[in-house]
Amino acid sequence: MINSRIIVYSSNTGFTEQYAKLLGRALDMPSYKLGNVPACHKGAEAIYLGWLFAGKIVGYRKCAKKYNISCAVGVGMSPPSPELAEGLRATEKIPAGTPVFYLQGGFDITKLKGPMKLIMKVKCKEIAARLNAKGELTQAERATLEMTQGAASAVDGANLAEIIALYK
Ligand SMILES: Cc1cc2nc3c(=O)[nH]c(=O)nc-3n(C[C@H](O)[C@H](O)[C@H](O)COP(=O)(O)O)c2cc1C
Repeated sequence: MINSRIIVYSSNTGFTEQYAKLLGRALDMPSYKLGNVPACHKGAEAIYLGWLFAGKIVGYRKCAKKYNISCAVGVGMSPPSPELAEGLRATEKIPAGTPVFYLQGGFDITKLKGPMKLIMKVKCKEIAARLNAKGELTQAERATLEMTQGAASAVDGANLAEIIALYK
C-alpha cells in the first residue's frame, strides 16, 4: 500500500490527537500515533502533526525518516503567527516544497508530571505576565492566557481549513 495517504501524529496530552482525528474525518484519511502505524503503510505519504516542545515539532524527524511527509503541522499553546510556522521550518529543516502550519492547541498543566510540570509552571507565569502587560489582547492571545491559568483549549476544526483545502 505504498501509495496510501495517512495522518501521523505525536501528542503528549491529547490536543494534537484531537486535531489529527478532526483532520482524518475531514479528509477521510486514517490517522495513527507515531510508533503505531501499521507496517502496510511503510513509505506512505503522510501529513504529520506534532506537539511543540521548546520550539520543536516533537517526532517530526523520526516520522520524516519513515514516511514521505507532504505537510508538517506544529501544535502549541502560543497564539498563531506566520513567523511561527516559518520558524518551525527552519528549526526542523523542513524542505521548501513542504507546507508547514502552526495550530493553536491546548494546555492542561494537570496532565503533566515531574520536570515538565515544574518547567511549565515557571513558563506559564512568564507568559501570563507578558500578556497581562500587553493590554488589549486578541482572541488567540486570550486563549493562551487562559491556558496559563490551568487548562484551556483552542482546538477547533475551523483552524484546519487551509490544510484541508490543500488536499481536497
Ligand atoms: C515541556 C513543554 C514545552 C512546550 N513548549 C512549547 C513551545 O515551545 N511553544 C508552544 O507554542 N507551546 C509549547 N508547549 C505547549 C504544548 O505544545 C501545547 O500545550 C500542545 O497543545 C500540547 O499538545 P498535546 O496535548 O498533543 O501534547 C509546551 C508544553 C510543554 C509541556
